[in-house]
Amino acid sequence: MNGQSLSNLIRNKVDIVDVIGERIPLVKKGKNFFCICPFHDDTNPSMSVSREKQIYTCFTCHATGNVFTFLMNYDKMSFPEALKYLGDKVGVDTKGVKLEKQESKFHKFYEMYDLTSKYYQNNLLSSYGEEARKYLTNRGLNKDIIKKFQVGLSLPNNNDLTELLVKKKYDISDLNKYGLSVNNYDIYKDRIMFPLFDINGKVIGFSGRIYKNIDEAKYINTKETPIFIKGEQLYNYHIAKESVRTSKYLIIMEGFMDVIRASTIGLDNCIALMGTALTREQMKLIKRLSNNITLCLDGDKPGQNAAYKIGEEFLKEGIETKVVTLPNNDDPDSFILKEGKDRFLAYIENAENYNDYKIKVMKNNVNFNSDVEKSNYINKVLQELVNVNDEIRIEIILKRLAKEFDLGYNTLDKKFSELKKNNKKVEIKKEPEKVVLKRKNKYRQAIEQVIYYMLTNDWVISDVEKERLLLPEDDVRILVQEIIYYYKTFGVITVADFYTYIQSKKELLAVVDEILNSSYNDVVSKDELYLYFKVIREYSKKKQIERLEEKMNKEVDPLEQAKLADEIRKLRIGEV
Ligand code: CTP
Ligand code: MN
Repeated sequence: MNGQSLSNLIRNKVDIVDVIGERIPLVKKGKNFFCICPFHDDTNPSMSVSREKQIYTCFTCHATGNVFTFLMNYDKMSFPEALKYLGDKVGVDTKGVKLEKQESKFHKFYEMYDLTSKYYQNNLLSSYGEEARKYLTNRGLNKDIIKKFQVGLSLPNNNDLTELLVKKKYDISDLNKYGLSVNNYDIYKDRIMFPLFDINGKVIGFSGRIYKNIDEAKYINTKETPIFIKGEQLYNYHIAKESVRTSKYLIIMEGFMDVIRASTIGLDNCIALMGTALTREQMKLIKRLSNNITLCLDGDKPGQNAAYKIGEEFLKEGIETKVVTLPNNDDPDSFILKEGKDRFLAYIENAENYNDYKIKVMKNNVNFNSDVEKSNYINKVLQELVNVNDEIRIEIILKRLAKEFDLGYNTLDKKFSELKKNNKKVEIKKEPEKVVLKRKNKYRQAIEQVIYYMLTNDWVISDVEKERLLLPEDDVRILVQEIIYYYKTFGVITVADFYTYIQSKKELLAVVDEILNSSYNDVVSKDELYLYFKVIREYSKKKQIERLEEKMNKEVDPLEQAKLADEIRKLRIGEV
């Protein structure tokens, strides 16, 4: 079986609604399903998923595709990976099938990192690794955890790794560019090596930690490279992604040691920010995993400041956020080691709602001897409560505030209601993002519509073939030929399968995307179809006449000129 037949077979057994639904909540409306589009900053559900056509389209950012392209874009799988993933799901064997090479252009560099990670892991097991193993044991990391996180060791004072990789035919310039060597020499000397993974679990970088008593930077991390983009890095994302499906919430920590420690007590739904600023990209990745976040950063002042800042960003995104404040400047790692699993889980369970946390933090900075500061604080709290959607919690907080500042509950409630009302007025309904559409002429509209019907109703294909339309524009002409060829080869055509077929043909793909993003009726009658044919024929005639006229104007031979004039006349009266 060739790659296309196999992908058709698998795609036919899979329902795109299930695959997307496992990742993003879908709501059924009429025939289609809708969700928040994961490919742009979406707030209103603007992606629709069609069970009938087995495709998705976003009417805001125009992301379009089938189940394969969804996995390729969302889970960053390569095509063969998506095929294998779905094949496994529906019980179709994908081994031994020759796929056209569609490997990621970074394939080589992933391999390079994989090899390096294995090399480091072996070093840790070697006789030189004894002291490093002791360090890890002392930190309470056993063999299973070391294996799970693929912890390794770089050797001191030599150029082993660079030499090994060069021997394996990797370019020295690539080693430098991809952060494994610097100036043709090993970067990491005698450090415990923690691989950093991309969202699918591929090794794309390292963090090397000192383990001897030496005066050097605690961690050295891989520099930014084409495959290691720091703003998109979240430690343990690939494992948390699976775990969150059952835990239903995600814990965010600061360091990868915290996440590794959490895993020793069975918490796999944790990721680490590795530095505290949160990028837009990281926010998007987090939103994909869960709308239910527990921030468990370090207990020290910087950790708490970060919780305040990050919580605020989550609040804006409408993510349910809770905050754990660990005591004594502990981080999750040190706390779990000292206090154990149950005490840590209790902290997680009793995490404070972000709004409460924020109100509490705001209070820390108030000078209670100043009436002005006190009333400022109360106003700020009331303003904060406008964002809270839980009536009961609002009442509890208002009552507490009234008691604390010896004010009447009704006074506070009245002020709060006013604020809320004003806020509603300010809250202007967000205009849906407008899309500037290229104005298409009547012909272009007609041909695109015909192509849409070729993809959705196979009888249209033979009608188009019989009609022998002349199509002056290359992209649609080639597309029509491809559809006819595909139909003859496979005997059936579905939008979703044809979509896979033209993946590598960028110009054609752009036209198909465009067509799938237009909302056409699903059925077409013969009469309608022939109206489109008529528009197309008239247009191509017009183009032909224009071409002949141009030729005639350039022609010097009067005889040739007359011939051309005659041709034009015949075209005009419709003799050809
Ligand atoms: N970090 C770094 N370089 C440093 C210190 C920290 O890159 N010199 C990053 C690391 O990614 C680390 C995170 O910041 O995971 C949190 O730092 P820190 O709290 O100091 O690390 P711990 O997790 O406490 O590490 P350890 O327990 O091994 O000291
Ligand atoms: Mn620590």
